[in-house]
Amino acid sequence: MDDEPSGLGIRDLVAGHGRRTVLHGITARIPRGRVTAVVGPNGAGKSTLLDVIAGVLAPSGGTIDRRAGRPAYVVQRSAVPDTLPITVRAAVEMGRWSRLGPWRRLTTHDRAVVEDCMARLGIRELAGYRLGEVSGGQRQRALVAQGLAQESGLLLLDEPSAGLDTEARQRIDAALDHAAGIGVTVLRVTHDAAVAERAHHCLLLRGGRLVANGPRVIAPPAVTSP
Ligand SMILES: Nc1ncnc2c1ncn2[C@@H]1O[C@H](COP(=O)(O)OP(=O)(O)OP(=O)(O)O)[C@@H](O)[C@H]1O
Ligand SMILES: [Mg+2]
Repeated sequence: MDDEPSGLGIRDLVAGHGRRTVLHGITARIPRGRVTAVVGPNGAGKSTLLDVIAGVLAPSGGTIDRRAGRPAYVVQRSAVPDTLPITVRAAVEMGRWSRLGPWRRLTTHDRAVVEDCMARLGIRELAGYRLGEVSGGQRQRALVAQGLAQESGLLLLDEPSAGLDTEARQRIDAALDHAAGIGVTVLRVTHDAAVAERAHHCLLLRGGRLVANGPRVIAPPAVTSP
């Protein structure tokens, strides 16, 4: 992997919420074109790490080298309101907004990308439903499709498969493998030991510190959610 350009370099990263420091000096290299799993117990700082990498939380120290460009970020499910009055298709289309002109008119190509991302997640038949009308798992698939639709070189996903059925989990795995296969740096938080085991690379966080970092999983997550 050393011959590949690094997807994401993190050095001495310190960050927290308010006065409280949560991440205590994280240094890691996250490979491009690979799926990296971030594991660790509740409260370890996984979401905080993704927030900092995504640029929604400013670090108080350290550096992030985002060679992959502006990240796409699929946040942890509980952070998304359920009642947005838009359709599933419109939600996925929002993934294209940063590429559109001032009138937000989608091109034929944009529409094709949106359809492809919905197909990958198995939600094309839900395209016309409002987000508030579909199930939690279906909404989660729409948000993952929105992340994919951004076609960013850096895709961050916080527990994207939590609470999903087997078919949806498999679709997400396949979609993320596909993204990695075309050169995307994929970073996914998970509490699922099987997901961590099949990832190419794994970061284990505990108490805001990186306790293991390497190809495939080093140890199963200490705590698993139901
Ligand atoms: N908005 C916030 N304000 C204050 N403290 C916060 C905030 N968000 C998280 N924290 C604290 O930061 C620490 C790390 O939280 P974080 O959400 O990053 O953990 P996590 O590893 O993602 O956990 P989980 O597996 O439960 O999602 C926790 O102790 C939490 O209480
Ligand atoms: Mg979290």
